[in-house]
Amino acid sequence: MGEKITLSVIKADIGGYVGHSSVHPRLLETAERYLAASKLLIDYRVTHVGDDINLIMTHKYGVDSPEIHHLAWNVFLQCTEVARELKLYGAGQDLLSDAFSGNVKGMGPGVAEMEFEERKSEPVIVFAADKTEPGAWNFPLYKMFADPFNTIGLVIDPKMHQGFRFEVYDLIKNERVEFSLPEEMYDLLVFIGAPGRYCIKSVYSKTTGEIAAVSSTQRLNLMAGRYVGKDDPVCIVRCQSGLPAVGEALEPFANPHLVAGWMRGSHIGPLMPVGLNQAAPTRFDGPPRVVAMGFQLTGGRLVGPQDLFADVAFDKARQIANEIANYLRSLGPFEPHRLPLEDMEYTTMPEVMAKLKSRFVKVGMDEKTQRFAAELELGAK
Ligand code: F6R
Ligand code: MG
Ligand code: MG
Repeated sequence: MGEKITLSVIKADIGGYVGHSSVHPRLLETAERYLAASKLLIDYRVTHVGDDINLIMTHKYGVDSPEIHHLAWNVFLQCTEVARELKLYGAGQDLLSDAFSGNVKGMGPGVAEMEFEERKSEPVIVFAADKTEPGAWNFPLYKMFADPFNTIGLVIDPKMHQGFRFEVYDLIKNERVEFSLPEEMYDLLVFIGAPGRYCIKSVYSKTTGEIAAVSSTQRLNLMAGRYVGKDDPVCIVRCQSGLPAVGEALEPFANPHLVAGWMRGSHIGPLMPVGLNQAAPTRFDGPPRVVAMGFQLTGGRLVGPQDLFADVAFDKARQIANEIANYLRSLGPFEPHRLPLEDMEYTTMPEVMAKLKSRFVKVGMDEKTQRFAAELELGAK
């Protein structure tokens, strides 16, 4: 057996430039300098999507390594100092804790990492999205690894034909469950069709048992108990030779799906695939963006990134996303553009309700309707 390497992608919003739209170049330079000085890494890249900095790192310390997580934490602290100096918007917003305690999980930054033995050739894609949440990967991961209309390899590649194992997290109850596809496809869909709660954490090949994809799952808003920004997610997908081809991994994004996030983390919008130079969402703080960075790994070195959504073949997806965005914007503060009350990250409902409480008067009901209303209320409790 060859030696294993770990690919870690750790991201955080350390302050926006301007507003929540992008990252100031000095933050990226600061992160670069800090990672360059570290002896822990085989290689690294610093990129951004919208106002989120992505640290893409390779090393030999495995997943959940305190050394690597501490390194990322320190990078973000250094960046916060620069963000404060420039008075960038929301400086240090994703660093929820004052002191590092062994693992950045639960402290604000998003994490996707996987450990594996490098294959003869190891193509990987790092996806990163802004103005949305981890469940945004459910639809594309399902298409990549379970839908033969997207991934013809599931039908005609003997190394894919057995299917894949999906690990799903319940982000509210903090539980995990596994599904074996294609047999349990319908069961899986019951859950992942509700991406605000159930989220695909990882995918494994049933042929080799190897890890194929992993996503970040943190829900900052729930963890913090207050609004601290949508937990803009990242995802790593290994490609080719028994896994989805690069083109099969990108194909789900040709049809922009609707995700939660966008303005004030309280709207539905299309996830627009863009090249790295278009990764600064400005219209109504959006629409939500996704970038795809392709790398070949060699001995843990990152050859790339290849800016995969820069391809003109994704122009149409951008056009469709703009059209969907236009239509949804026309709905203004009405659902389904605006999220249901319980899913919004901002709400003035309690204040407005308190102000108007005395003006609400009971509407007369006959006995049968009263009983029905009481039952409904009981059911809601
Ligand atoms: C969405 C996001 C932005 C902000 C919006 C208001 O994830 O970060 O849309 O919610 O710009 O920001 P504040 O409340 O900071 O003025
Ligand atoms: Mg922000
Ligand atoms: Mg963001």
